[in-house]
Order: sequence, then C-alpha cells, then structure tokens
Amino acid sequence: MKHLSIALIPGDGIGPEVVAEGVKILRTIEELDPELSFSFTEFPWGCEYYLKQGKMMDADGIDQLQNFDAIYLGAVGYPGVPDHISLRDLLIKIRRSFDQYVNLRPVSLLDPSFTPLKDKSDKDIDMLVIRENSEGEYAGAGEWLYKGRPEEVVLQTGIFSRKGTERIIRYAYEEAHRSNRTLTSISKGNALNYSMVFWDEVFEEVGKEYPDVETYSYLVDAASLYFVSDPERFEVVVTSNLFGDIVTDIGAGITGGLGLAAGANINPEMKYPSMFEPVHGSAPDIAGKGLANPIAAIWSVSQMMDFFGEEKWGKAVLDTIKGLTVEKENLTPDLGGKATTNEIGDRISEKLQKLI
Ligand code: NAI
Ligand code: MG
Repeated sequence: MKHLSIALIPGDGIGPEVVAEGVKILRTIEELDPELSFSFTEFPWGCEYYLKQGKMMDADGIDQLQNFDAIYLGAVGYPGVPDHISLRDLLIKIRRSFDQYVNLRPVSLLDPSFTPLKDKSDKDIDMLVIRENSEGEYAGAGEWLYKGRPEEVVLQTGIFSRKGTERIIRYAYEEAHRSNRTLTSISKGNALNYSMVFWDEVFEEVGKEYPDVETYSYLVDAASLYFVSDPERFEVVVTSNLFGDIVTDIGAGITGGLGLAAGANINPEMKYPSMFEPVHGSAPDIAGKGLANPIAAIWSVSQMMDFFGEEKWGKAVLDTIKGLTVEKENLTPDLGGKATTNEIGDRISEKLQKLI
C-alpha cells in the first residue's frame, strides 16, 4: 500500500476551482486502486490571506509543508496585491526552499483542432521542455543604484553555477536517454558571452556521458521560430529559467492555450516535496463563474502520478483527457465548448472509471 500526503494550496481566483477538480481525480484514482491512498491538508494561503494577515503564508509555512510528499497548487495573484509579492512570497519561496530545480512542462498537442498552426498533428507537437527552475536569470541578484536620479543604473545578474547548470542538463540527458528521444539545448552563446557560452560547454561536456543521445543546440531566437514553423524538431528540450519561461508560453500557444498547460516543479532527490500546478495564473477575468478549464490542473495530477512511480495512472489520466478533447461541445469556452469546470472534472472522473 502506498500513501501520499498532499498539501493543497488552492490560492486565488480560479485556483480553488481547478484544484477541486484535480482532487476529484485523485479521489477517483484512490477509489480504483486498492494499493494507493492519499490524504489532503488544505492551506488557506494566497492573496486573500495576505489582505487579512499581511503575509502570503504563515511565517513557518515552509516548515509546515516540509513533511508532505507533494504540494498541489492552484494559482496565486489577485488585483490589490502586487504580483511581485504574491509570486515571490509564496510560489518562488516554495520552489527555492524545496530546491525544486527541475520544471517539467509538457508541450503536446492533444487534438489537431487546438493548434493555430496549419497542417500540424499530435505527432508533430509532442515535446517535454525541461526548464532550469532555481537560478539563472531569475536568481534575483542585482542592484538598483541612484534610484530616481539621472545617473540611475540597474543590474540584473544571471547566476549560472556549475552545480546548477550541470544538474539540470544531466537530468535532461537522463530523460532523453531513458525515453529514447533526441535532446535539444536552447541557449544564446553568441550574445551572452559568459552565461550561455558556459551553458553550451556544460551541455557538450555532460553529453560525453550519453553517447547514445542525439543532440541539437539552437539559439533561443531561432528556437522560437522553430517552435512555430517546425515543432516536430523538438522532443526533449533543456533550457534556462528565463528562456524556458518564454518558450513554454509559445508551447502553450501552439497547443491550445493556458487552459491546457501543466507544470511540475521537481526536487528529483525527493529530499523535499515537489509541487504540481497548472501553468496559468488566477485568471480574475473568469474567476467564480465556472468558466475555467481544469484540464491543465488535472494534467499536473498525471505528472504527479508519473513522479511517484505510478505511471499507469499518469498515462490513464492523460489518455482520459485526450479522449475528452474529441467531444468538442463538452469542453470549456476557452476551447469553444459550453461545459463548466465542474462538468469537465466529472466527465474525466467517469471516463477514468470506465477505462480501468
Ligand atoms: P492568467 O494565466 O491568470 O490569465 C491569462 C488569460 O488566460 C486570461 O484571459 C484567463 O482568463 C485565461 N486563462 C488562464 N487560465 C485559464 C483556464 N484554466 N481556463 C480558461 N482560461 C484561462 O494570467 P494573468 O491574467 O497574466 O495573471 C492573473 C494573475 O495571476 C496575476 O496576479 C498573476 O501574477 C498571477 N499569476 C500566477 C501564476 C501562478 O500562480 N503560477 C502564474 C501566472 C500568473
Ligand atoms: Mg510564465
């Protein structure tokens, strides 16, 4: 019997709406699999909490989360609380404190009708972007000098440590090797003459340990073009924090939008809990109306199952989502349908029960 204790942080806006559907799917899995059980502990953190308590999470919030197996997060951010506070004091704090240095973002086309690209099928768009999630351009290192004066200067420093760069690149080689796919590194060595020249060197160095992995290396500008013109070039992709953030939004754009984009923040050593979440934010424009697409949040449940070695369930959830996408009228409005958030969760749960 395997037990997973899961911390729920539904957060703000549509966060609680989509997390409720993800939990519905986890409960369905628990019912269907006598070898698996989950427990859920909900934390009320987020912007509403901030407006009452003056903080995004409890002062000892990280200690409270420490002993869970996984964290399942909706989204944080709401008008009235500056975004740099809501993101930095909760999301980024968790990613950092728990050394979740791998960000796994699948870019897979579930149905040909979801892509704005001409003549591309699910065979053409099926990649896994592995984004560095702990340092790089988002390290928060820099300086703001002479603020507000004519001689004002700001510095934003990219941090690329040998340890940090090697471990993400090695993780990507392992994944490409394990799944027998090609590996593409996205960098910018022609312009970023320290960080990205170093990145390219490490990519080549670590590659010597994986002679069986076929590799490609593209500059980020060219790679952005290829995401749109020839997405079939990519299988496993490894890239830095900033470039990964940007190219995965292009990835969401070519596969049907934010309602379908999932992400896992992984501490591969399992020394700390890993965190699973949809890529989208709290979407205040549609919150509270049952319009949010819960598929991204449910896809991250599939990632959670994969991470804990329950690939059977990871695949079952993803196959079920795929099966749903052919029923056009039964999708949420972002995909042209009329269904509500809750109805999508119910249907996926029902289909999962029939699949097993
Ligand atoms: P957003 O992702 O919340 O929304 C962008 C657009 O996509 C909106 O039109 C929204 O309605 C739509 N959308 C997003 N998720 C959807 C879903 N599941 N189904 C259907 N439509 C969906 O990004 P935005 O508007 O830039 O940010 C809103 C707030 O969310 C901000 O406070 C921001 O800081 C925060 N945010 C939080 C993130 C997180 O917690 N991981 C990530 C991104 C933004
Ligand atoms: Mg982003």
